[in-house]
Amino acid sequence: MTGVFGRYAEYYDILYQDKDYEKECDFLEEIFSKYSEKHVKSILEGGCGTGGHAIPLAKRGYRYVGFDTSEIMIERAKEKARSSNIDVDFQVMDLRDFQLDEKFDASICMFAVIDYITETEDVLKALRNIRRHLKENSLFVFDFWNGLAVLRILPSVRVKIMEDEGIKIIRTVEPELDAFNHISKSHYKMIVIKNGKVIDEIEETHVIRFYFPQEIKHYLEEAGFELLNICPFMDLNGKVNENIWNIVAIAKAVGEEE
Ligand SMILES: C[S@@+](CC[C@H](N)C(=O)[O-])C[C@H]1O[C@@H](n2cnc3c(N)ncnc32)[C@H](O)[C@@H]1O
Repeated sequence: MTGVFGRYAEYYDILYQDKDYEKECDFLEEIFSKYSEKHVKSILEGGCGTGGHAIPLAKRGYRYVGFDTSEIMIERAKEKARSSNIDVDFQVMDLRDFQLDEKFDASICMFAVIDYITETEDVLKALRNIRRHLKENSLFVFDFWNGLAVLRILPSVRVKIMEDEGIKIIRTVEPELDAFNHISKSHYKMIVIKNGKVIDEIEETHVIRFYFPQEIKHYLEEAGFELLNICPFMDLNGKVNENIWNIVAIAKAVGEEE
């Protein structure tokens, strides 16, 4: 098993069935049409999970490569693409060292993917690597936990209950904040119930790093990007402040790649 997501990934689609991926793809296309200098035809997605964005976007006609460190996620994504007859190139790879012989018109990392990279050096490696796989002036779009909001609101204990195909999942998360290192550990406990019986139990800790807007701007510039905008998630015209937890960076690949 590889990656930061362990068996949590097996229940990912049930847990996040409330996420409106089609609407998120509309948002991404709105970003492309407002900020991209060229018509976006090919997309590279890092941390694609089970293909929540990849499959709808490939359906909309983009050439698509999606990758993730989780084998379980990629297996699931491939199954979903096969069953809906959609052509997506899904691969198990890591943002920090993936290598492809292709340059793309846009790249995305959605739903806190970048937050899973917790060391500054690794973030820079990942950003530089994405830059290397983008054509000049191409867009890179990603969302992340806004440090300003994390430190004001503070992560809290949460319970989520989801049900699908006769399976009920009760997931609790207990956070452990390490403000100095910009880290919040999410300690997950998941109970899976079928026909009134517990059929699975999973405990997993996800280490999440939060980032500050000015910090992201600096890392992007170091990696060969220009920050075009930072906005609230799903609100391209909104303003980011300390009350908004999920925020989106829109950057453009500039200069010569390394
Ligand atoms: C919260 S999930 C989001 C998945 C998907 N983008 C979505 O919106 O449903 C975060 C994903 O990032 C992946 N990930 C974390 N670190 C990664 C890395 N260094 N390289 C590639 N993928 C990574 C995880 O395996 C996981 O699938």
